[in-house]
Amino acid sequence: MEITSAAFVTSLANYGPFPGIGLPQIAIAGRSNVGKSSLINSLCRVKGLAKTSGTPGKTRLINVFLLNDSLHLIDLPGYGYAKVDKQEKRIWGERMDTYFNTSQTLKAVIQLVDIRHEPSADDLQMVAFLRQKGIPLLLVATKADKISRAARQRHLLPISRTLQVQPFDIVPYSSTTGEGRAALLARLDDFL
Ligand code: GTP
Ligand code: MG
Repeated sequence: MEITSAAFVTSLANYGPFPGIGLPQIAIAGRSNVGKSSLINSLCRVKGLAKTSGTPGKTRLINVFLLNDSLHLIDLPGYGYAKVDKQEKRIWGERMDTYFNTSQTLKAVIQLVDIRHEPSADDLQMVAFLRQKGIPLLLVATKADKISRAARQRHLLPISRTLQVQPFDIVPYSSTTGEGRAALLARLDDFL
């Protein structure tokens, strides 16, 4: 697919009815600061569409975007942010549960991990949760520009091993260079 139009629809604390609901959805999950909002902006080629920040924990709400007047992209709140207390973690869990139990048109989750690091316990838990729910997932390794081309496989292997996917099933992605954008868009077609 190619993205010809992208617009912000709404922010939701708790997932529920919003204008245009019912279209197919693709959601984006990952740790705080992994690059979810940046990926949305680079994918849609609209600067500032999703708010990004150097400070983790920016996206606490569920942000909904409309692509090509026919698809909703869902920016989910990040997890694994250190400065979050038990109460906030519980709220996060409840919001995610509500989303995954309520959305009837979710086609796939784009799961983001930082290409430089081995997946965290939270990443593993998230992936296990999606698999248990039978939700198709597409793994994207973000911030690929931060490592050399030669080091790609060395970084992808432990990620693929930990998350039990084939290394070639992980899309290396950079929001700054645009690397991986075409590959990701092509993969999205498989889910829609
Ligand atoms: P939360 O909303 O807190 O969950 O974070 P997020 O996952 O939406 O991360 P965000 O897109 O806000 O990016 C976090 C930081 O990483 C920002 O400083 C971005 O500029 C930076 N960043 C994101 N993607 C890339 C990338 O591909 N390359 C580089 N070099 N930096 C990136
Ligand atoms: Mg964000």
